[in-house]
Amino acid sequence: MPESARLPIVVLISGSGSNLQSIIDADLPIEIRAVISNRADAYGLTRAEQAGIPTAVLDHKTFPDRESYDAALQALIDSYEPQLVVLAGFMRILSDGFVRHYEGRMMNIHPSLLPKYRGLDTHARAIEAGDTEAGCTVHFVTPELDAGPAIIQATVPILDGDTPETLAARVLEQEHRIYPEAIRKFAEGEIS
Ligand code: GRF
Repeated sequence: MPESARLPIVVLISGSGSNLQSIIDADLPIEIRAVISNRADAYGLTRAEQAGIPTAVLDHKTFPDRESYDAALQALIDSYEPQLVVLAGFMRILSDGFVRHYEGRMMNIHPSLLPKYRGLDTHARAIEAGDTEAGCTVHFVTPELDAGPAIIQATVPILDGDTPETLAARVLEQEHRIYPEAIRKFAEGEIS
């Protein structure tokens, strides 16, 4: 596929970047123009470098407040002219103005069956509640945290003796399947 026919995307990470890796490894009609992290020690940066993808670090600790950080992040993202922004374990609350700027062209993956368990510690909360199923959701990002329209969900069983860690590992396998799938659907114009 010619480079010009690929959907330009920018991926934001904060950590391991295993979802980023699944997107790199999938044969998608996209061009990852950059991987941006708010943490210099995010292993996902190494994954990007190994794949020959440009990287950038924008450390939130060097900004006085959320608005100034988000303004700088927006300028950095836009310098790559993406048509889709992919949040892949980017552990920051985003300001409303930032989210509105990317309305309809920013996705996130969340490790729960939304609308259940927005926010953190999703696996511990699902086990604690006695749920028999957990999962993950790819959704469009809207100003309300983890509340935007769902694109794809995957479900896994919660097994006797599961800990948040064993459940997280089972869910993560499904994240690696559905995130590339959601991006493909967007790139091919199947969803908007
Ligand atoms: C994933 O569980 C994702 O759902 C959550 O953060 C984690 C990121 O993992 N938002 P990785 O950095 O992609 O390995």
